[in-house]
Amino acid sequence: MIIAVDGPAASGKGTLARRLAAQYGLAYLDTGRTYRAVALAMQRAGTGLDDVAAAVEAAGTLDFAMLDDPEMTSTHAGEGASRIAVMPALRAALVERQRAFAQRAAREGTGAVLDGRDVGTVILPDATVKLFVTADVAERARRRALELHGVAEGPLFDELLETLRRRDARDTGRAASPLKQADDAYVLDTTRMDAEAAFSAAIRVVERALVA
Ligand code: CDP
Repeated sequence: MIIAVDGPAASGKGTLARRLAAQYGLAYLDTGRTYRAVALAMQRAGTGLDDVAAAVEAAGTLDFAMLDDPEMTSTHAGEGASRIAVMPALRAALVERQRAFAQRAAREGTGAVLDGRDVGTVILPDATVKLFVTADVAERARRRALELHGVAEGPLFDELLETLRRRDARDTGRAASPLKQADDAYVLDTTRMDAEAAFSAAIRVVERALVA
């Protein structure tokens, strides 16, 4: 079983994907972290984020152990990721690594859950189940503010709302694999759902796909 989970920043897709992986004993890859890792490697090396050759090189040599680096969740890694994610050559290099991850999991008989922006549309168009997880941008900013700063309003919220709006525009507006739902994806709008309700809804979708 291969599950594709896509959606905008802070929609709750990561939490959901991780829980689905645990529920069904599947390998899990947060594809956003592969972009973050490349951005972080470039930032640490002092390379400009517009250097395509350096980005492709970093993607090819990326050690997946780096995906657990605590700095991966930082705002600068996320911003950097969204900036380099517009490069078609980098995307091609990372998609190859992401597909290899899913193929290895399939070979080993476990299956996999991948989450990101283009899992159901580009990386794994033949996925068993495709979920598109979304939520209102203000609700997403509220969740991210709580997660990062422990407060859901005030200047930090305003700043995050602005950052998310900018990121949404960049992710949906880019030419290379823009964020969009696959035609055969199930749309899960979590604006009025907590993590538990979103998980239950996702389980129902997966179970339906398994008996189909
Ligand atoms: O968790 P959050 O949505 O903030 O970020 P993420 O999923 O770690 O992704 C960071 C950035 O990487 C996104 O803004 C996208 O531009 C890019 N990305 C992408 O282009 N394709 C993917 N499959 C995953 C992430």
